[in-house]
Amino acid sequence: MTGLTTILGFNGLIGRKLLPLLREGGVSTRTVGRSGGDIPFDWDDAGTFKAALAGSISLYLVPPAMVADPAPQVEHLLRVAREVGVARVVVVSSLGLSFPTEPPGSERHRYEDVVKASGLPWSIVRPSGFMQNFSEGFMTPGIKHAGMIFSAAGAGAVAMVDSNDIAAAVLALLTQPDQTGKTFELTGPQAHTFAEMAAMISAVAGRPIGYQAISIDQMRQRMHEAGVTTDYADILLRDQRAISEGAAAKITTDIRELTGRPPTSFQHFVEINAPAWGL
Ligand SMILES: NC(=O)c1ccc[n+]([C@@H]2O[C@H](COP(=O)([O-])OP(=O)(O)OC[C@H]3O[C@@H](n4cnc5c(N)ncnc54)[C@H](OP(=O)(O)O)[C@@H]3O)[C@@H](O)[C@H]2O)c1
Repeated sequence: MTGLTTILGFNGLIGRKLLPLLREGGVSTRTVGRSGGDIPFDWDDAGTFKAALAGSISLYLVPPAMVADPAPQVEHLLRVAREVGVARVVVVSSLGLSFPTEPPGSERHRYEDVVKASGLPWSIVRPSGFMQNFSEGFMTPGIKHAGMIFSAAGAGAVAMVDSNDIAAAVLALLTQPDQTGKTFELTGPQAHTFAEMAAMISAVAGRPIGYQAISIDQMRQRMHEAGVTTDYADILLRDQRAISEGAAAKITTDIRELTGRPPTSFQHFVEINAPAWGL
């Protein structure tokens, strides 16, 4: 599909990998955000929606960060997108919706429902936990400075996914025909426990990196101290419970089918990201 693509969350863990891929692929892009984008865009200011979308044919949508119930804002944005002629939207959701802990009618289901009801040709990606949480995300400072990974996932395994692979899948969805009206579950190729992942990072970092399994209540307290709202923490903790119960070790072939290559293994990810954990 040719024409301008508007990119929300362009400096996020997926967006910062997606943008160079689109540009290398010759796709015309517009970054929109609260700071540093081509055009100002703020989820909390609906007055910015129209200018952010006008003239674009495709939209990459990351919902407002850490908002438990983004459906009303997303519904509004997609209404504007339709009015200005956007003809394709690729939306980031979460593999957590596929876990048995996700209640029917949850906020995350409502979010996907407003996308499907928008009247726009849509594709939804549900990624597993991002490998980049360890190398450039919320777990990086703990690993670097305390040599420790904390999680309420217990001894449960999860097939973390590389955000470069998510970006490559999104590129395919933005550019290939016949990919609309579908939901894709994006996982890595193997499920590992957090203890195993800590050991793999430790081996490349050349120093001990430990894993401490903490309780759901301890994790809730940590999230509270980090400024995560109670409602949003409840959603994240549901996913951790699913992992701890062994219900989240799902592995899919969607990345290979969309990109034509296998997803990155956690072992390969740690080998090429070793400098991220240097002192
Ligand atoms: N991390 C995981 O393991 C994981 C797993 C599954 C699904 N997910 C989903 O992935 C998505 C996050 O993707 P990501 O990691 O690429 O993004 P991210 O790193 O969370 O970044 C969020 C992006 O949104 C922008 N943003 C935040 N609030 C905004 C606002 N009010 N108005 C405009 N822009 C705003 C931020 O830019 P500024 O702050 O600079 O404005 C940033 O570019 C979330 O929906 C999450 O549920 C994450």
